[in-house]
Amino acid sequence: PHIAPFDYVVFGGTGDLAMRKLLPALFHRELDGQLPTDGRIIAVARGAMDEESYRAQVRDALDRHVGAALTDEAWATFARRLSYAAVDARSGEGWRALGATLDQHPERVRVFYLATAPDLFGPISQRLHDVGAITARSRVVLEKPLGHDLASARRINDEVGRVFTESQIFRIDHYLGKETVQNLLALRFANALFEPLWSSAWIDHVQITVAETVGVENRGGYYDGSGALRDMVQNHLLQLLCLVAMAPPATLDRDAVRDEKLKILRALAPIEGADVDLLTVRGQYRAGAIDGQPVPGYLSEPLVGTESATETFVALKTEIRDWRWAGVPFYLRSGKRLGAKVSEIVIAFKPIPHSIFPAAAGGVVPNRLVVRLQPDEHIRLHLMTKEPGPGGMRLREAALNLSFAETFKSRFPDAYERLLMDVVRGNPTLFMRRDEVEAAWSWAEPILDAWARDPRRPHPYTAGTWGPSAAIALIERDGRTWIDDHDR
Ligand code: BG6
Repeated sequence: PHIAPFDYVVFGGTGDLAMRKLLPALFHRELDGQLPTDGRIIAVARGAMDEESYRAQVRDALDRHVGAALTDEAWATFARRLSYAAVDARSGEGWRALGATLDQHPERVRVFYLATAPDLFGPISQRLHDVGAITARSRVVLEKPLGHDLASARRINDEVGRVFTESQIFRIDHYLGKETVQNLLALRFANALFEPLWSSAWIDHVQITVAETVGVENRGGYYDGSGALRDMVQNHLLQLLCLVAMAPPATLDRDAVRDEKLKILRALAPIEGADVDLLTVRGQYRAGAIDGQPVPGYLSEPLVGTESATETFVALKTEIRDWRWAGVPFYLRSGKRLGAKVSEIVIAFKPIPHSIFPAAAGGVVPNRLVVRLQPDEHIRLHLMTKEPGPGGMRLREAALNLSFAETFKSRFPDAYERLLMDVVRGNPTLFMRRDEVEAAWSWAEPILDAWARDPRRPHPYTAGTWGPSAAIALIERDGRTWIDDHDR
């Protein structure tokens, strides 16, 4: 699809996200020939830096993150787009110059990508307004976390909303840009097979796991004030839950999808008071090993308080209070320094109502639909089959396996590639609307409050394991187990 000429202004242009994700994503779009000749990328950060040093820094980052695709020729084309502007979000420094640079092309789509701390979203928006940089064709992208709790999220939304209209605001949740996450929409709504079964009548429960092997890396400063519930659950896992659970939207339009997601967020059973202890588990990793290599515990990570009670793991059980889902538990878990990097959604169907098979045939395991988001993206439907052989009926579980790598030989674009272009196109379907973000915070807040009041420490778990045993108890109490499809 055609991408209009643009000026992409990246605040936090020297930061980790820009170097690791945003610039590599733009570079890949360049390689695919998608970027228009008239497209500039203007990196903004506080420190003074000349263009050449900035470009060298970007080349270095691309070297690390895009590998062999970084040819001299591709780099030359990309580098021509890049410039650097020193601008201070708090003081007035640099703003006029930035405004003048943008004024060279007033007709272009302008994207202001705020990859900064969220408390700067308001001040930066205001400065942009003050120098007259916000045109009708301007949009602003807000990186997560959008605030720290409901009140701060509202404040930021108010501040940014004073100078940008809601349709100009793109709140990013990069999970929505992942190929397999969008595939959930195709799976559910481009096939007749699943939707009739998609309710408490046929589904026993749902599990959503987002497990990482990384620790907090160099992000301890941010992470220690945040924790897994704010960092992953309030946004990524809830968005996945919404896409699994929402009713079929009438169209793929910006608001049709978001309206349906919002209904789910608003129907989430609140977890408050004594329920917090019953329905949630928080953990924190201690020293252990990942892939055979020893790794330090959370409390020894740089920029983490020595007695920090920040959770690096969460497991919880929730429910959606509506006609479709009442009585179907949704088990969510996410953590750092777990046994494998794997994100997976498991739809566990109910047992068959009656078995015609003799005991000797073996048990009938309920069906499972597994959507593997990463890595080795696949969709697997676990079914019962007859084991081949003349010896009578022996049942065995086997899987229909749709592996994306095998089916589609093409490269899998990173989530940011799709989303960064959607911003230029002005398509916010895969971005979060204000009411969604605030509904998600409203749900998360009582849990955070209860934890903050709780003098007990998070359950420890050894790095490289699957979290504290309390997380296993959380689901086993209900006569269920965490299904680790990656073990199979
Ligand atoms: C980010 C979180 O939003 O998502 C990180 O802040 C986390 O802590 C990351 O590591 C995970 O993203 P992905 O795409 O690697 O699953």
